Amino acid sequence: MKRSLLVSTLAALSLACGSSNPTTDEGTIPFEPKRPTPDAPAQVAAYTGSDADVLAAQKTYPTGLDVHRKLVMRTCSGTNGVCHNQKEYPDLHTAATFTAAIGAPCNVQSGSPEGVFDRCERLGDRFRFTEPSFREIEIGWFELVMGETPENVRPDAATPGLHLYLHDPVPVTQERIGATGTFIRNFVDDQGNVQALSFASYKTRWWILDDRRHLFAEVSEYQRDTVESLVATGIVQGDQNRNGVFGARIVGNTVPLINPGRPEESYLVARLRGYMGGQPVPGTRMPLANQPPNVQDMLALMCLIQGLDPQATQWNLSSAIDYNKCTYSADPSALSLAGTGDTWRGRVLPLLQSNCGGCHGGDSPQAGLNLLGTSDEVYSRLVLKPSLQNPALNLIQPGSLDKSYLYLKLTGDGSITGSRMPINPLNGNAALPDADRQSIENWIFVAGAAKN
Ligand code: HEC
Repeated sequence: MKRSLLVSTLAALSLACGSSNPTTDEGTIPFEPKRPTPDAPAQVAAYTGSDADVLAAQKTYPTGLDVHRKLVMRTCSGTNGVCHNQKEYPDLHTAATFTAAIGAPCNVQSGSPEGVFDRCERLGDRFRFTEPSFREIEIGWFELVMGETPENVRPDAATPGLHLYLHDPVPVTQERIGATGTFIRNFVDDQGNVQALSFASYKTRWWILDDRRHLFAEVSEYQRDTVESLVATGIVQGDQNRNGVFGARIVGNTVPLINPGRPEESYLVARLRGYMGGQPVPGTRMPLANQPPNVQDMLALMCLIQGLDPQATQWNLSSAIDYNKCTYSADPSALSLAGTGDTWRGRVLPLLQSNCGGCHGGDSPQAGLNLLGTSDEVYSRLVLKPSLQNPALNLIQPGSLDKSYLYLKLTGDGSITGSRMPINPLNGNAALPDADRQSIENWIFVAGAAKN
């Protein structure tokens, strides 16, 4: 009985399938594409002023797509694997990923807590003990030190186990308690309401250390999986660079990579400049080793960001950039990353930092030469200080070009060891633009390498 029902159902199905008429419909698919028709880009008036840099920028970079294709791609995604097309860095290698960076929290290069700028720090997750009732406290940062916690030893910062560093002291008087710790995060639900959700918990013996802001959770062999999966879930840290300053609390909000309408508060711009709002931004200057953007490049980027509507949720990079309205068009040269004039502070230092800092900076600068730091620091490493490659010469000898080894490295003089600077990682060799080299020359030779 059942079997015959099945057979007749199959028969009905195959009948249904065969019922369309193969002679008339074959080859045509009744399908109307429903693609969204993009809003026509708003018409903007072209810049009619006379500033040569604005006119040139408008010509090279009429739209945001041009900024991506001609500037971002050239500077940030040149070499596969080195730049912005892998997970540690914000992916900037297609127009779509570049657009996705608008309004997105600034990406933090993993593995180096110092590389995080306070203003990039998000609001952290919160922690509370479940049993002794107390309010939730924001997590600054955590560290899982691998290994089994030793028995009955008062832990320090390096003891194997889970270390949690909190914004406020926990209201617990004992030094050691058995308790369940709960991790809480805010989620925004469909209705736009903020919901606090406890997303993980861990029951163990806890130590309350230091000023009661350092919690230590013991991890024994059998608990290791639990803790590792807790850490793998991801705990949002409110003070990721561990300097005691909680970024999201200072400015009320995280700084996005590209902050629509606010170029001065865009982390991308901050990383090109090395500072933001007068504060130094940790981490290597971008671009790492390619030529830094020139005045016209910077103008296009700043005007693009300034013109993005902060209220929008989607942005169209194919719209024209409004150089006419853009406030930076009034004085583009102020955007120069390489400074102006021929002085140390105004020109030579910014030149060295923006062209060379990618390689000559950080924890292990090339050839031991660190060109990043404050004006005084960098000056004292160069002037009347011997070169590593040719200790008979100083890096900078005031008044003398052929006794200044750094200058000889810039001209590619026959006497130097190694390459002419700056090295171009793509094709091995590069040279500073003449005007830049000339400024350094004037500073050493004419101004006697003065420190102003
Ligand atoms: C792509 C990486 C890279 C860039 C960019 C770069 N350098 Fe270098 N630099 C190196 C390396 C690698 C060495 C050592 C090998 C060599 O000299 O060829 C070096 C060596 C040097 C030395 C020798 C240091 C000493 O004490 O003898 C000087 C001076 C120098 N660079 C100056 C500069 C200046 C100035 C710039 C920018 C205009 C610059 N470099 C840009 C990678 C770079």
